[in-house]
Amino acid sequence: MKIYMYGVYQDEVPYIKEWQEEHPEVTVDSTTKLLDESTVNLSKGSDGVVVFQQKPYSDEALRQLALNGITKMSLRNVGVDNLNHELVQELGFQITNVPVYSPAAIAEFSVTQALNLLRRTKEFYLKLAKGDYNWAPHIAKEMNKQVVGIVGTGNIGSTAAKIFAGFGAKVIAYSRHQNKELEGIVEYVSLDELYKRATIISLYLPHVPATDKMLNEKTFAMMQDGVLLVNTARGPLVDEKALIEALNSGKVGGAALDVMTGETKIFNRQINFQEVDYDEFKDLVDRPNVLITPHIAFYTDQAIKNMVKMSLSANLDLIKTGTSDKLVKF
Ligand code: COI
Repeated sequence: MKIYMYGVYQDEVPYIKEWQEEHPEVTVDSTTKLLDESTVNLSKGSDGVVVFQQKPYSDEALRQLALNGITKMSLRNVGVDNLNHELVQELGFQITNVPVYSPAAIAEFSVTQALNLLRRTKEFYLKLAKGDYNWAPHIAKEMNKQVVGIVGTGNIGSTAAKIFAGFGAKVIAYSRHQNKELEGIVEYVSLDELYKRATIISLYLPHVPATDKMLNEKTFAMMQDGVLLVNTARGPLVDEKALIEALNSGKVGGAALDVMTGETKIFNRQINFQEVDYDEFKDLVDRPNVLITPHIAFYTDQAIKNMVKMSLSANLDLIKTGTSDKLVKF
């Protein structure tokens, strides 16, 4: 049996080796390159592929993969929003993802960024770098005095809710499905009420048509003046033009964006600022009250280990049994 892995990072190699030792019957080959038209034939002759990339999987590459007889594809991450859902079904693909690789990785980072916004750390670092060691005027706010609005209480949102509650914040949440585990920790409210009451809003939802640009001119208008936003979920949940307006007016007091709508143009690569063709990013990035990070909330040793080993095992299940408990239902 042979599995081919695309887009392999250095950090993943030890865990691939570890998995390989546990599964000597499987040959694992890999490339650092992403799956696209120019690399699709590298996996010819394999029984399945394991992939990981933020940029969209191209239709051409998927078609060629299917022509090469490979329709068992395992994503090392959770999101399937960069995949043409109709096409993969039409081509008869079986896709798995890793729905829970380390909720704590993302939850902890989102809380960290909320604290950074409250404690105004970027503003302090900027002035310290200029030799200005004054306290004022950058007085902070305390987490235990905040009303934190958690949007989406799946695994990550629930983990974050518990951490915020641990700081003594009042935690309110909106979710389609309420998590019983959060009883006594979280007050579930409507989305409108959350927008109105929260002093910090943190997003934990996938990007689907219903969540596209859910934070927009209209929803910003409902929020508290100076509300802080944290997005470690998906960039397109936020209308970035409307966010710029809301920051300019002071409606939004600060934002931590680990994901952005046009992130594939800039994240996880060396960029030359002058050449970047992304106006909203250029407007936001240098603001003292905006923290932009390159989609790193997931990036911990624990998460990478789980992403590698769970995706390889899911791919092997597909090959051996024709199914997997991580099969994505489109
Ligand atoms: C995901 O697991 O979907 C993530 O957001 C990680 C990302 C780097 C693709």
